[in-house]
Amino acid sequence: MTEAVLLVGGKGTRLRPLTVNTPKPMLPTAGVPFLHHVLSKARAAGIDHVVLATSYRPEVFRDGIGDGSSLGLRVDYVTEEVPMGTGGGIRNVLDRLESGPEDPVVILNGDVLSGHDLAAQVAAHQASGAEVTLHLSEVEDPRAFGCVPTDDTGRVTAFLEKTPTPVTNRINAGCYVFKRRVIDAIPADRPVSVERETFPGLVASGALVLGHVDPAYWLDLGTPAAYVRGSRDLVLGILASPALPGPVGESLVLEGAHVAGTAVLSCGTTVGARATVGAGSSVEGSVLLDDAVVGAGSTVRDSVVGRGARVGAGVVLDGVVVGDGAEVGDGNELAHGARVWVDARLPAYAIRFTPDEPSA
Ligand code: GDD
Ligand code: MG
Repeated sequence: MTEAVLLVGGKGTRLRPLTVNTPKPMLPTAGVPFLHHVLSKARAAGIDHVVLATSYRPEVFRDGIGDGSSLGLRVDYVTEEVPMGTGGGIRNVLDRLESGPEDPVVILNGDVLSGHDLAAQVAAHQASGAEVTLHLSEVEDPRAFGCVPTDDTGRVTAFLEKTPTPVTNRINAGCYVFKRRVIDAIPADRPVSVERETFPGLVASGALVLGHVDPAYWLDLGTPAAYVRGSRDLVLGILASPALPGPVGESLVLEGAHVAGTAVLSCGTTVGARATVGAGSSVEGSVLLDDAVVGAGSTVRDSVVGRGARVGAGVVLDGVVVGDGAEVGDGNELAHGARVWVDARLPAYAIRFTPDEPSA
């Protein structure tokens, strides 16, 4: 059995206001906290012990995951009082690890939805004798990620975090296998970034860092658009997850929700527990969190409606985030990444979105 460290200490600032009350890895995704998908995937790959490296709102993780037994895992928690960075977070859990110095330890970013074969990555790491083996994925625009060129044997030749001038489309997919002794060597007394310090340092020292390319489904849930897409893809069954609470299909409606007979749910929408959707409304590819309300005759597309938030009648939301407890009055039209803050109140007919008219 292998053990894993989950990096879940980030503040999720790009996902505000959703992350004001809930850390990113705990956001409900296709009806369960996002981490359930990650943890059940780890379990399926033969991992039995997981240490969560927390910092921001650690209590939400403990409340939602407990000792891990419901997922077939033993879960431990370590909390950084001050965020120590990705490398510092890994180093900080060292005394909870049970592996020997040569054993493989899996490290996972807590906001990645991935269909890659984790057991195959661990096997490739063991077969090569590498110090670290990185899962690499290919994306169209690598600038927001770690750019990772390799030679034709798979050896990593550089690690370029968030470079404006990427040299390859292959990126760090946020899932590593470390020899445990590589963790021992990370400085313990200050913040460290694995992306900016540990990986470039290992490559420069001549250590074998291996790139493991797996082209399976891959998504970083760092933005509202990506969060909505990840949830939708799970509901539609585009990515399978052992943690899904129901069968896959056009929509997922959780316990106690009420959807009017004339409302239409489509494109992988989730309706949270006790949430309601009014007559004649259409909800496409969206996430309605628990106790959310959508009034009659509204259209909600590629959007998130927060916990207990209320959207009135005749409202249009397109690519919008409505924070927990907020109210969007009747007749508003919001689009293009608009974010309504937690508990904010938008009066009826306050904002109308009109697309640009071509000039005469
Ligand atoms: N414990 C702890 N402490 N965890 C942290 C800290 C910290 O100080 N800072 C970030 N994390 C966690 C976050 O919670 C998240 O799960 C993970 O580390 C990655 O942080 P992000 O903030 O999501 O980073 P990113 O998406 O910009 O970039 C990272 O992921 C990309 C792939 O998704 C980098 O690893 C890139 O190289 C990579 O391509
Ligand atoms: Mg991320």
